[in-house]
Amino acid sequence: TLNIAVLVSGRGSNLQSIIDNIENGYIPNAAVKVVISDKGDAYALERAEVHDIVPVFVDPSSFGDKKDYENKILEVLGKYDTNLVLLAGYMRILGSRIIGKYRNSIMNIHPALLPSFMGLHAQKQTLDYGVKVAGCTVHFVDEGMDTGPIVLQRCVPVLEGDDEESLSERILEQEHIIYPEAVKLFVENRLVVDGRKVSIT
Ligand code: GAR
Repeated sequence: TLNIAVLVSGRGSNLQSIIDNIENGYIPNAAVKVVISDKGDAYALERAEVHDIVPVFVDPSSFGDKKDYENKILEVLGKYDTNLVLLAGYMRILGSRIIGKYRNSIMNIHPALLPSFMGLHAQKQTLDYGVKVAGCTVHFVDEGMDTGPIVLQRCVPVLEGDDEESLSERILEQEHIIYPEAVKLFVENRLVVDGRKVSIT
């Protein structure tokens, strides 16, 4: 069984979609062992508890510098023999030591069609720019922000009268489809990374 750790900061609906798709058998031979949050009141931690997954709050403000915070995360990942790290609404840049140690074993979901609209408030950036097609991206995490090799993408239309909330909701529905799909492909060892390119075998 492959051990998954999920890093979160908030609501955790993407975490939920992974848990549900493991429980219903769509993602085989995998278990979410631990959910790590940088926010003590993240609803995602409650979701973890409901499913008997260990919730861990790592408070960034209680560490002297970023390195100590990173070490704490590494310690938790090690404790649960983590094979795959999923960022699911985790609103921080992951430290380079974690990325180095789990190269091509960390994925993120981003609510835009990368490489457009990297960073925060991607859906608002999408609306403000006036593009007609929006979407979401699952990618491997490298040292940049939202720059790593792309695994899967889905698009949705931007509709007349959309606001940030309505567009975000339309995108989120697709996030809940492609993140479990990407995790399934990873678990089945079907993702091959070659430079920027990810092929599905
Ligand atoms: C999702 O839309 C995710 O794509 C986005 O935050 C939301 C988290 O929702 N992530 C980012 O913007 C990362 N920069 P969730 O907590 O319900 O999964």
